[in-house]
Amino acid sequence: ILLRPCYLLYLCGMKILIIGGGNMGLTYARSLLRAHLTTEEQLMIQQAARDFAQNDLLPEVIERDDAQRFPAEEVKKMGELGFLGMMVDPKYGGSGLDTLSYVLVMEELSKVDASCSVVVSVNNSLVCYGLEQYGTEAQKKKYLTRLASGECIGAFCLSEPEAGSDATSQRTTAIDKGDHYVINGTKNWITNGSSAEIYLVIAHTDKEKGHKGINAFIVERGMDGFEIGPKENKLGIRGSDTHSLIFNDVKVPKENRIGEDGFGFKFAMKTLSGGRIGIAAQALGIATGAYELALKYSKERKAFGTEIANHQAIAFKLADMHVSIEAARLLVYKAAMDKDNGENYDISGAMAKLYASKVAMDVTVEAVQVHGGNGFVKDYHVERLMRDAKITQIYEGTSEIQKIVISRSIIKG
Ligand code: CAA
Repeated sequence: ILLRPCYLLYLCGMKILIIGGGNMGLTYARSLLRAHLTTEEQLMIQQAARDFAQNDLLPEVIERDDAQRFPAEEVKKMGELGFLGMMVDPKYGGSGLDTLSYVLVMEELSKVDASCSVVVSVNNSLVCYGLEQYGTEAQKKKYLTRLASGECIGAFCLSEPEAGSDATSQRTTAIDKGDHYVINGTKNWITNGSSAEIYLVIAHTDKEKGHKGINAFIVERGMDGFEIGPKENKLGIRGSDTHSLIFNDVKVPKENRIGEDGFGFKFAMKTLSGGRIGIAAQALGIATGAYELALKYSKERKAFGTEIANHQAIAFKLADMHVSIEAARLLVYKAAMDKDNGENYDISGAMAKLYASKVAMDVTVEAVQVHGGNGFVKDYHVERLMRDAKITQIYEGTSEIQKIVISRSIIKG
């Protein structure tokens, strides 16, 4: 147990040799073949996440879900393990790992507690990635180092009451006042809403210009006029704190704008492309967690004189679950490897999220069915996994949005 944090400490600072060694232009077939060939270091990280999930997340996961309690202590520990800035350069406090390592961690955490893994996903793929790729050196030093080291967590504020899937319809405004902007508006369904300290906020600076009049800003908790709104009472991921946020004449210094003037919509889209890989991995983890529970239960529970796994009705469900999870895993790892290899991952990430989230929903429903009456009871975990699965088809772009992204790409050619 004492050695556990050492896995990541050992990896911090030394860049891992990622699969493919950064090769450009890997063929799809080669990627698939390599998809299950993880390096020794990646397997150690996976084991560290598995141990953490079993020892630190599992014991109170039902209570946190019931009470809608944010996993503050657990998030702190995840920061110490290096899970909150996994792909960030160590010079900014990160672990300097690749996307596949991140996906392996997301999968392990999500098998047990998706409320915890969404904190990891948002902090890594949306907030840290966005700042590391597009922030200024000063922004990285001031904000990224704190976020990547786990000193604090961040939130990504795009959605609004009237702008969910239709992300260009932002009503939040940021008016240029020379050396600062003044932000007004409301954001909705914001993950880490009341626990974050650093918020990336998307707002219109010039509505006439459509998406080219949108910008992204770094807002700090505690800035005058920034208020945390009501907490949502949700179906799933109930431990994650989802809030609306209210901006009432919030003065944000000009140096807190991310990128060139008008870059905000592309910033959101580019960042979300990577975020979708994280959510796909979350869906994969939820599905795997439910499948493993169903498999174990079906080998223990007896009916009609034998373990229920010996009944074809149950055995075929297990076979279907196993095949669909394996297919989802290949898509998720492929998307992660595309990102690591410097290839375009907009479409592979969208495909991975679309498919893995459907698998998560299908598998968790079947896992409840395999458990029968016990599946309907909280102690057996599968009902929570089923409730948690649903959000993976909704946030960071609904399944319908993923189909828009995929179909536009294949039709365009
Ligand atoms: N990368 C870079 N640029 C992109 C891009 C990408 N992935 N996708 C689109 N763009 C660019 C386009 O090229 C275009 O630029 P130009 O005009 O210069 O060519 C511009 O953005 C506008 O693109 P579209 O015309 O395609 O825009 P659209 O209005 O048709 O919308 C959409 C496209 C894909 C549907 C987009 O609105 C979308 O992804 N919507 C879903 C939003 C979403 O995922 N929300 C999730 C909320 S965040 C969340 O859930 C986080 C959490 O807390 C867990």
